[in-house]
Amino acid sequence: MNGLRSCIFAATMTVTMAGAALANSEGPIPGFTGAPGMKGAEPEMTCQSCHIDYALNPDRLGRVELQGVPPVYQPGKSYTITLQLKHPTAKRWGFQLTALSTPNYTAAGDFAALDKTTQKKTAAGRQYIEHGSIGGKATGMGKTGGYAWTFTWTAPKTNVGNVAFFAAANMANGNGDLTGDRVYASAKPLFTSRAGAK
Ligand code: HEC
Repeated sequence: MNGLRSCIFAATMTVTMAGAALANSEGPIPGFTGAPGMKGAEPEMTCQSCHIDYALNPDRLGRVELQGVPPVYQPGKSYTITLQLKHPTAKRWGFQLTALSTPNYTAAGDFAALDKTTQKKTAAGRQYIEHGSIGGKATGMGKTGGYAWTFTWTAPKTNVGNVAFFAAANMANGNGDLTGDRVYASAKPLFTSRAGAK
């Protein structure tokens, strides 16, 4: 039984990896933020599923910060948001972010890129914004200390309750490979925006 299970697992991984190797130069495949699943379903995986050299959240040096999300959102209003990463040794950077209403964790609002350094993707009814598909230019190749991306989030048109933002970040070594990269993600929201009056 065990043998069969690991065999199925290996086969699934092979397919996923093959798809990903192809998809990666286009940015990570959607659905890898570590966010909770919808209505109690399994949480999403993270970038660490492939970038496996280090454990998830390997040290306290990696920082993921979301700037520009209001503590209270106005339905339908657009906000300019910045996702800031910081790490003392990283040399290349990547992220994926999603916004979900609580408590059911369904998609909330719309992301939009402002330029080619970010891109929007969708999967399983959720929206993601992530680093763009223009390789080193979208991933701060060679930048040290930190890196940031700016894009927009438009709040849901109606009051959907609190909106929680979840992200996974790869603070990478810039070797163009899966090795030596540190991934940070939390099952707790990076930030929660409360619904404002209509
Ligand atoms: C299914 C496998 C897979 C997943 C999941 C994955 N990646 Fe990757 N990633 C790769 C592969 C393969 C490469 C190397 C080839 C390439 O860059 O296209 C890579 C390379 C990278 C690099 C460049 C690394 C370096 O040191 O030069 C960054 C940055 C990156 N990924 C970010 C992410 C982020 C952010 C996530 C999660 C949101 C993620 N990846 C999830 C497969 C994956």
